[in-house]
Amino acid sequence: MNKAFMNFNLIDHPLVKRNITILRDVNTNCETFRSAISRLSNIIAVKLFVDLKLTEIEVQTPLEKTKGFKLAQEVVIVPVLRAGLGMVNGFLQVIPDAKVGHIGLERDEETLKPVEYYYKTPANLIRHEIILVDPMLATGGSGSAAISFLKKRGADNIIFACIVAAPEGINKINEDHPDVKIFGAALDRELNDKGYILPGLGDAGDRTFGTL
Ligand code: PRP
Ligand code: URA
Repeated sequence: MNKAFMNFNLIDHPLVKRNITILRDVNTNCETFRSAISRLSNIIAVKLFVDLKLTEIEVQTPLEKTKGFKLAQEVVIVPVLRAGLGMVNGFLQVIPDAKVGHIGLERDEETLKPVEYYYKTPANLIRHEIILVDPMLATGGSGSAAISFLKKRGADNIIFACIVAAPEGINKINEDHPDVKIFGAALDRELNDKGYILPGLGDAGDRTFGTL
């Protein structure tokens, strides 16, 4: 793989390919789209947490004491509004006690830069495992801005989970935030002149919420 993509982990699995196909299909309705996003998020979560740090504890079975484990760090899932919301449940199925923050971004019509219109996360993000979730990594403008906003509030350990990534977005995150690893279910070809991913799946927010 291109050296510039070293920060990108493609999750290669038959069930990922099957669900991505459902998302790409223009005839997939909103309900089916949402459930495929959720299943994919679930698979991504399992793969992404493979390096999660654990602390050893003792657990009492009905028969004797034995070694057990608990998470060493708190996990915070942070969806980028709106489309990121569709990925939250898939992650919570894997770590039900994770906290959930929210970041709302919109593009300033004059500067074309992403502006934060909503922000709410746990006050303390230091030494937490922060998982930023957004199905689409296109130009990387939203992802990079969301990471900057989290870092400004103290986040020092961020992973970006997406469904479909474009090379442009991966490069942008790599340049702006080389410390952030990206996990994705598909690496697509390029962006069109409107910033949509090709072949892509269209507008993830509109397809998730039926606002086409
Ligand atoms: C989509 C997507 C990302 C962003 C990706 O959101 O969910 O947040 O675009 O594009 P970028 O990498 O070029 O920044 P959108 O702005 O369509 O908002 P929505 O989720 O409210 O539909
Ligand atoms: N946002 C989307 O929802 N889809 C794209 O292809 C690019 C940005």
